Amino acid sequence: MRILLLCLLIISCAYDEYDCPTEVAYEQNIKEIIDNNCIVCHESYNYNQVLNNIENIIYRIELDTSDSKIMPPKWAGYDKLTDEEINQIKLWNECK
Ligand code: HEC
Repeated sequence: MRILLLCLLIISCAYDEYDCPTEVAYEQNIKEIIDNNCIVCHESYNYNQVLNNIENIIYRIELDTSDSKIMPPKWAGYDKLTDEEINQIKLWNECK
């Protein structure tokens, strides 16, 4: 019984952290994507900055690769983020 409770606790915590725009979830799931693809140019991107710009960020990363406004920029030789990375950022923002 104790083990079952512990499992439930871990699952519910992990769920909350993954799916809400908390700083913990940022560190776990989002920071690496931002550090690998954005920080070179957007030096100020941290938890607060990303949270404050999240609508703009999601708009930019979802653009078609033919759109010159896509982020990270094609003109700088970057590939579009993977669907998984994009979904991760959207999930983090939606808190579902
Ligand atoms: C090679 C440099 C470079 C990289 C890498 C890069 N950006 Fe940008 N970004 C720019 C430049 C330059 C602008 C301003 C021109 C424009 O709006 O397209 C910009 C503008 C933006 C904007 C709109 C203006 C603002 O600050 O709100 C957003 C949002 C954005 N970038 C998000 C991102 C995200 C998210 C990533 C990573 C997935 C990223 N960028 C990666 C150079 C970069």
